[in-house]
Amino acid sequence: MKKLWSLSTTEHGGDKESIMRRGNVYQVANGYMGYRGTLDEFGPDEAVGITLAGVFDRVGDAWREPVNAPNGGFTRVALDGVELSALGDDVVRHRQTLHFADARFERTTVFRRGGKTLTLTSSRFLSAVTPNLGVIAVSVTCDQPGEIAIRTGIDGNIWDLNGPHLPELAHTREGDVLLTAGRTHESGKHVVVAELSSAEWAGGQAADSADNRNLRVLTVRAEAGQTYRFFKYFAVFTDNDRVDGALGEAAISAVRTAHALGYDECLAQHAAEWRRKWERCDVLIEGDDEAQHALRYSVLQLLMVAPVAGSANSIPARALSGQVYKGAIFWDTEMFMFPFFLHAYPEKAVELLRYRIRTLDGARRKAKTEGAGYRGAFYAWESQDTGDDACSYFNVGDPFTGRELRTHFRDKQVHISGDVAIAMWEYFKLTGDDSLLLEGGAEVILECARFYHSYLYYKKDKDRYEVLDVIGPDEYHERVNNNAFTNMVARETFLIAQAAVAHLRKKHPAALSALVKKLRLARELPAFAEAARKLYVPKPARKTGLIEQFDGYFALKDVPVAEVKAKMVHPHEYLGAGQGLAVPTQVIKQADVVMMLNLFKSRFSADIKRANWEYYEPRTEHGSSLSACAYALVATEFGNLDFAYKYFLKTAKIDLEAKYKVYAGTVFMGGSHPAANGGAWMTAIFGFAGVQADARRLAINPRLYRTWRRLQFRLSYRGDWFRVELTPDRANVVAEKTNRRARSPHRRPAQKSRAR
Ligand code: BGC
Repeated sequence: MKKLWSLSTTEHGGDKESIMRRGNVYQVANGYMGYRGTLDEFGPDEAVGITLAGVFDRVGDAWREPVNAPNGGFTRVALDGVELSALGDDVVRHRQTLHFADARFERTTVFRRGGKTLTLTSSRFLSAVTPNLGVIAVSVTCDQPGEIAIRTGIDGNIWDLNGPHLPELAHTREGDVLLTAGRTHESGKHVVVAELSSAEWAGGQAADSADNRNLRVLTVRAEAGQTYRFFKYFAVFTDNDRVDGALGEAAISAVRTAHALGYDECLAQHAAEWRRKWERCDVLIEGDDEAQHALRYSVLQLLMVAPVAGSANSIPARALSGQVYKGAIFWDTEMFMFPFFLHAYPEKAVELLRYRIRTLDGARRKAKTEGAGYRGAFYAWESQDTGDDACSYFNVGDPFTGRELRTHFRDKQVHISGDVAIAMWEYFKLTGDDSLLLEGGAEVILECARFYHSYLYYKKDKDRYEVLDVIGPDEYHERVNNNAFTNMVARETFLIAQAAVAHLRKKHPAALSALVKKLRLARELPAFAEAARKLYVPKPARKTGLIEQFDGYFALKDVPVAEVKAKMVHPHEYLGAGQGLAVPTQVIKQADVVMMLNLFKSRFSADIKRANWEYYEPRTEHGSSLSACAYALVATEFGNLDFAYKYFLKTAKIDLEAKYKVYAGTVFMGGSHPAANGGAWMTAIFGFAGVQADARRLAINPRLYRTWRRLQFRLSYRGDWFRVELTPDRANVVAEKTNRRARSPHRRPAQKSRAR
């Protein structure tokens, strides 16, 4: 079913915002870089972006953000001396397609000019085999003889939000290869792009380096109906690449190698790698094409932006779709994307965790310098390459006055450290692999526990610890006390720290004593146990089952979301911060208590889940793309499948429909939504398939949506792979033949089983 493996549109023109949205929706990426779904002839005004993972820069006082590379994919075609663009008036037909199977972007545009019809097609992919490489095939056909001139090469005019990050680009040529190089401001990091184009026809080639572009002009006297093809290979290298010798040479050699292989072979290798990815990660939904398509698109997004092996990079909240949100990594990764990788692509889960190990020192610096100063690791709310916090204290603009609003995301959203610790421990629990703990994961966990220990407040009269002055996931209520989600996460961190210590003591005693010595933790460790015991976590009320989101939440004004929104004077008005309309009310931005019920689902009954879901859902604005999936997941737990389905689709289609908020106050925040992509996967697998795994077992409790005839996927669990196939009346779990035979005590012999 081809249509379930692609996405197409015939729209081409439109206002800036629709060009921007198509750029998000049709992007391709390979973990090393993302290339927005813009057209070959576009430039910075159309938000062309080749966003590099893990390369950041700051210009003056502006926000630090990821660096966009010069565009090695640039091509402009002129017919009889007039350049053609999909934004011009000569377009007869246009179609652009994102092919899911091999993460490839394709466009065909038919132009009519001076009585002649010219068809331009291109097919673009970022290699899944060679991360630095982009490959494009372009073809041009004219129905009548004509003079065709193709300006192709590297465009040094870069779209930046807070740039320019690569001022003074040097454009040079090395034989047939174009080379454009620049350096970032802050750390003088080199960014080099090489491009090699080869035409199938013998024709003229002239250099053209005007307007900050490094181009060549390919000319052809086109014969009527004849197709002229050429291939473009571009490679991006930065100082983050560990290469022997000069970056320029590495880039030149990469494009020459690709050219020697040829487009077809590059594509064949790339497509074979994508086949392997899909064999592992595809989720089949039979009976519901809409859900199938949206979920597959979501999985594609996650696979495209997964970090390159060995990079210890993570996935930003807007992935590689541009510089929005400063290219920063939030809790989104651990809480919403990580579960997909843990279950379907554990090698990538490792990379995400290594990123937190790599940035531990940044988290330590933040703990020391934030507020009165804390100990341990307080992870950045918005984390970039060093782990220092990119989140500003004034993160939202007031659209009325243009002034910056003080927000406390950075200094008070302390649940981030526990989110990291939980993911680190989940990896160990579900894979049985403790190598990451030894590599620094245990240190991360202990430092997070230490941070909370230094943050806790001991309430003498109640002989308990409390977590005061925080922001929970609901960012509209700042500086609250005893946010249920945060307290629960903090307590969990203490429990995990103890469990990690117990594991190391048993299995790796020397590593444990070295670590305790390094961290000078011997005297503090017993305090973690006490903190876990005495940390107050708001409980469900006996009569209603309701958990108060934070101290005093129930006393806030109880008004409907619509009433709060009706009072908005400006469409971009921010509802939180000091004066926000939601602040005095119970209206919340996103799942908070419900997020907690989801994260700790085995600890709460279905009745508690239902009671809280029913209370909080009508009070939730769903102002974050992270919200709907949490409500969907919890709804499957107590059987409201219709609601779960509605929010599942909303989450899975967020980038397809691109109806999300583009501004928070005055801050632009468009881009892709990988956390929602992960949320969609979780809702299918943990929600409708009812998969629940811990260190002891992998359980499946299917509750298929009524229109679904089959749900099929693969799961990795403790080093083995299982194929799960669910139909309305059967559940089959089949252990893969390739699973290891030698079994450790926790593993039972693999067998075909009937779950119900
Ligand atoms: C949400 C946060 C989220 C961030 C990045 C905000 O709007 O409230 O929970 O981490 O966006 O996606």
